[in-house]
Amino acid sequence: VNLRSEGSPLEALPEHLRRVRSFVRREGRLTDAQARALENLWPLYGIESGAEAQPGNPDSWFGRSAPLVVEIGFGSGSALLHRAALAPERNFLGIEVHRPGVGGLLRGVRDAGLENVRVSDADAVVFIEDRLPPQSVSEFIIEFPDPWPKKRHHKRRLVQPALVALLVSRLLPGGLLRLATDWAPYAEHMTEVLKAMPSLENMAVEGDYIPRPESRPLTRFEARGLRLGHEVFDLAYRRTDHVG
Ligand SMILES: C[S@@+](CC[C@H](N)C(=O)[O-])C[C@H]1O[C@@H](n2cnc3c(N)ncnc32)[C@H](O)[C@@H]1O
Repeated sequence: VNLRSEGSPLEALPEHLRRVRSFVRREGRLTDAQARALENLWPLYGIESGAEAQPGNPDSWFGRSAPLVVEIGFGSGSALLHRAALAPERNFLGIEVHRPGVGGLLRGVRDAGLENVRVSDADAVVFIEDRLPPQSVSEFIIEFPDPWPKKRHHKRRLVQPALVALLVSRLLPGGLLRLATDWAPYAEHMTEVLKAMPSLENMAVEGDYIPRPESRPLTRFEARGLRLGHEVFDLAYRRTDHVG
């Protein structure tokens, strides 16, 4: 990972981030429609991980230059579809390892006739490190990442210092990191990690969290959290440093 030129104390993405995964691959059941979408629509909207780990040119994936929004772990993709439809002037890349979700998003993109969405089915940690060049992303979105509540599983949490350093290196100066969770201890953990990054500024005006952004639609995971009586926490941080 090209973090050295970013003046980061990290020399490379620690190997454990690639080895200890933030997900368990559950194939689940692919509906016929999802399977057909994966077969027929992947060639149109899918971005390969690239065996040789060559950084890509995101503009070329979309055939145009536009601000890039990257959503990690989009689940069913409903929030991503909603945002992409509301902001045709931006490019949206969704990264999700759950194949039924990828198939569902592909269908949604086709049905809505969206031209500003591309999809990766890779581990986001690996895809971002290998394929996204430094300073190429306007906004990263991570909503309701798996909380991994047991202490012995905390190392699987997606949001941790090495991953945040990687995301910051890919953000344009002034770019945004948006997160949400319904798991209070994870919200605290996120806050600790994000506050410790010198080049990030908390956008919250009061306290650690921002009000729920209007642009964030309710997803299945959030609805489940609310049914369980969980409070939902929204976080937004901006990359502040200027890179020469
Ligand atoms: C709890 S779900 C939330 C889904 C969606 N954001 C929502 O709010 O409904 C977390 C998702 O993150 C995905 N995920 C976890 N780690 C990932 C990784 N390293 N790369 C890509 N996707 C990941 C999981 O497959 C899962 O679908």
